[in-house]
Amino acid sequence: MLKSHRCGDLRLTDAGQTVTLAGWLHRRRDHGGLIFLDLRDRSGLVQVTINADRAPAAHAVASQTRVEFVLQIKGVVTPRPQDLRNPSMATGDIEVTADEVVILNTAKTPPFYINEESAVDEVVRLKYRYLDLRRATLQRNIILYDRIVRTIRNFLHERQFMEIETPILIKSTPEGARDYVVPSRVHPGEFYALPQSPQQLKQLLMVAGFERYFQIARCFRDEDLRADRQPEFTQLDLEMSFVDRDDVMGLIEAMLIHLVESVALPGEASVTGKRIQQVPFPRLTYAEALARFGNDRPDLRFGLELCDLSDLFADSAFGVFANAVAKGDQIKAICAPHCAGYSRKQVDELTEMVKRYGAQGLAWLALPADVTPDRDHVRSSFAKFLSPHEFQGLLARTGAQPGDLVLVVAAAPAVTAQALSNLRLELGRRLGLMDDSVFAFCWVTDFPLLEFSAEEQRWTAVHHPFTSALDEDWERLESDPGSVRAKAYDVILNGWEVGGGSIRIHRRDLQNRLFTQLGIDEETQQLQFSQLLDAFEFGAPPHGGIALGMARLVALFAGAGNIREVIAFPKTATASDLLFGAPSPIAAGQLRELHLRTVDE
Ligand code: AMO
Repeated sequence: MLKSHRCGDLRLTDAGQTVTLAGWLHRRRDHGGLIFLDLRDRSGLVQVTINADRAPAAHAVASQTRVEFVLQIKGVVTPRPQDLRNPSMATGDIEVTADEVVILNTAKTPPFYINEESAVDEVVRLKYRYLDLRRATLQRNIILYDRIVRTIRNFLHERQFMEIETPILIKSTPEGARDYVVPSRVHPGEFYALPQSPQQLKQLLMVAGFERYFQIARCFRDEDLRADRQPEFTQLDLEMSFVDRDDVMGLIEAMLIHLVESVALPGEASVTGKRIQQVPFPRLTYAEALARFGNDRPDLRFGLELCDLSDLFADSAFGVFANAVAKGDQIKAICAPHCAGYSRKQVDELTEMVKRYGAQGLAWLALPADVTPDRDHVRSSFAKFLSPHEFQGLLARTGAQPGDLVLVVAAAPAVTAQALSNLRLELGRRLGLMDDSVFAFCWVTDFPLLEFSAEEQRWTAVHHPFTSALDEDWERLESDPGSVRAKAYDVILNGWEVGGGSIRIHRRDLQNRLFTQLGIDEETQQLQFSQLLDAFEFGAPPHGGIALGMARLVALFAGAGNIREVIAFPKTATASDLLFGAPSPIAAGQLRELHLRTVDE
């Protein structure tokens, strides 16, 4: 090794030792006869002093160095005088008095400061990712990722799970997105698809008798990207035989608690500093989550629940509400505590927001802080049209107190849900209710098995087509498909869907039945899914599993708002790799070999 110690490890107890360090020049201060260097390696920083009198040759070399040069330094660990100790630095009690400085490599001036967490355009950061990765936050995030993966592996190995790899060049594995495809050279005109997840493969591993499998699996999905999505991403993928929902959920819950309790952030003593809001994790059915929060991944760090007023206003003299109810719309409200003082402009902003989700408008009512509210003493866009009964009912149901602001949306149920769930999150942000040190986990269960796709004019699987229905719901698969609930579960953390899974179908007849209901004829079923259907005829055990999005999980642990912040080499929102410049055209010869021709559109 070119080094005897790691920079960040040196402490007062090392005083007097001669050490050899190697790393990058993080910062340099030149005081003439005395040069101070901060030397950085993965473990952290240490201050090096070079005294012209003590080490003239070293001083001469040090005076030629610049930031990000790669240096090797030999010297003696020296306690700093009391008044020069730096408690904000792990190595702040000591410094290294250098006897020798070697420049192992020089560096051009970086396109942005490595030693500062200043804001840098993400395009530049991604183009020079290897430099961005040198900065403190990304170093910390990538180290955290490693620690989480390691802890997961240990946790699962201790519980009889085996890690098994599955192929990347495979056939289409429908998970609801478009496939990335790879042309075959040896089979002209034929393609592999990259796995959207190892779903069918892990089920086949259960048929193969492994009983407990996991994999840190790469998945590929050509879908519209968002802050929490990448075209290729990593799942903790897991499958178990002879289990029911509670077994999978219980295991994952224990694993997540273990992660929060045991994964230490680099440089921090033991735990992540996060507090789990509630154990056992609350469980909500899909219907309940939708009713109370307007979406199926509720952020439970705060309340501001939705409140249904439809029946209250069914016969209202206020036409807007009565007509809405008459045509099947839903009227729902949120009570924003202490927000009665919101200005017209603030209410207008919220109105614009709900309009973006399809609502016609936002009805509002501000209760004065000092008087008992009555209909004639409120500022409101609609209260004067309400009967006293309706007004009192509104207050009672929303629980509105003096000083609160009640916000109401009347629209088609899906629009009301979307508008109010987003309004709820916006209010949560504005009111400072999203405490990042709190981890509010929850489970959402009993998703619908199927949803009708207006675009495709057929029923499609909400989760994926291998998910089983609740036992008591199978009988309605053909007669009332929309009412069939799935043995599925999602694990949610602070409003992010961190993972999802289900108990699977393990009988050929039921799998055939579901495919048929999805409009897949028998021939196509055999063509696309024979590997699974045939396997089910050879003693497939009951089984189920789950997959967690690794980057989402790590981002939440790291407090990052975007999964790109925890992935070493992420792609942009348009699925480009700015470092390598991918995707890119390929040579004509390569195209020919693959039997491909591109078409100008
Ligand atoms: P699902 O499609 O719900 O389930 O994916 C599981 C988890 O993977 C993460 N995830 C993503 N992360 C980053 N970028 C993406 N584009 C992306 N898509 C999904 C999410 C999600 O909760 N085969 C099933 C699992 C199973 O049934 O066992 C599946 O893949 O955190």
